[in-house]
Amino acid sequence: MKKIAIVTPGGDAPGMNACIRAVVRDAISMNFQVIGVLNGYQGLIDDTITEMNLRSVSGIIHHGGTILKSSRCLQIKSSDGIKKAASNLKRHKINYLVVIGGDGSINAGLKISKYGIHTIGIPASIDNDICGTDETIGFDTAIDTAVEAIDKIRDTAASFDRIFVIEVMGREHGFLALEIGLASGAEFVLIPEIRYNIDKIAKEIKKKQENKKSSCIIIFAEGCGNSKEFASQLSKKTSLEVRVSNLGYIQRGGNPSARSRNLAARFGAYAVSLIKKDAKNRIVVIKNNKISSIPIITAVSGKKFIDSGILRLINKLAV
Ligand code: F6P
Repeated sequence: MKKIAIVTPGGDAPGMNACIRAVVRDAISMNFQVIGVLNGYQGLIDDTITEMNLRSVSGIIHHGGTILKSSRCLQIKSSDGIKKAASNLKRHKINYLVVIGGDGSINAGLKISKYGIHTIGIPASIDNDICGTDETIGFDTAIDTAVEAIDKIRDTAASFDRIFVIEVMGREHGFLALEIGLASGAEFVLIPEIRYNIDKIAKEIKKKQENKKSSCIIIFAEGCGNSKEFASQLSKKTSLEVRVSNLGYIQRGGNPSARSRNLAARFGAYAVSLIKKDAKNRIVVIKNNKISSIPIITAVSGKKFIDSGILRLINKLAV
């Protein structure tokens, strides 16, 4: 008998619920037993679990967040925490752990697997920073959410001829910032992977103004540092009004886009097919629109590179 536990640790991402639904319903159709772990890894340590059935995932496909709830669990970072999580799983005779989350969460799942539990990772994060997959669940929705907000900010930027620095999420990566920048027609996108030169930006803004471009949107990835500090320096260098808008947690919430939901369904069903085949310690990925899997260790030890061509295109079009 295969008994699966599903956990959604770390930052929530729109589409996680659609993924839980897919895993639960597909697994039950294979006669697997499914357990939901509440509150992310904290729930594995505290042993707060609930039996899942076909109806426990009704009416959730369109909701953001996670019905299983989440937490930032410090204990899971220690070997004692990992042991405790694994022993609770074993006590319930759970042999598979499906982790829907980011790379840190999936890596913790891999550590739990050392105690005889088989882990399957499903990439879900608005940051899209997991190596080996073109996309993570929630990324597409977060781009849409940010772009919708920036379209509104642009109205004020244009009316006041203002410079706006818009801080977006992405942890220490610029994947989210780049896509947001391209879709919102930003004049500049600053990402942690590429060093910026504030004097050069100030000069280019002046040049754009001579070309009758009087407002300007600068996307500032959170991993680049302090956006307020950057804005105040830029204001001094250009003698222009520079405002900061931090989009914050709106990027993590909201109804998942159709694309995020469909990716979630495909990832979820593929994870179940891996369990059916007795696969162990693999992460589901999408490459060129084809779903497959790679060892978790490959994903968590690899490095994902940004597409600098997107940045060049943004700069080329922002004339
Ligand atoms: O990983 C998702 C994310 O939203 C990052 O973009 C951000 O840096 C971080 O989580 C914020 O985490 P917390 O929920 O702990 O504030």
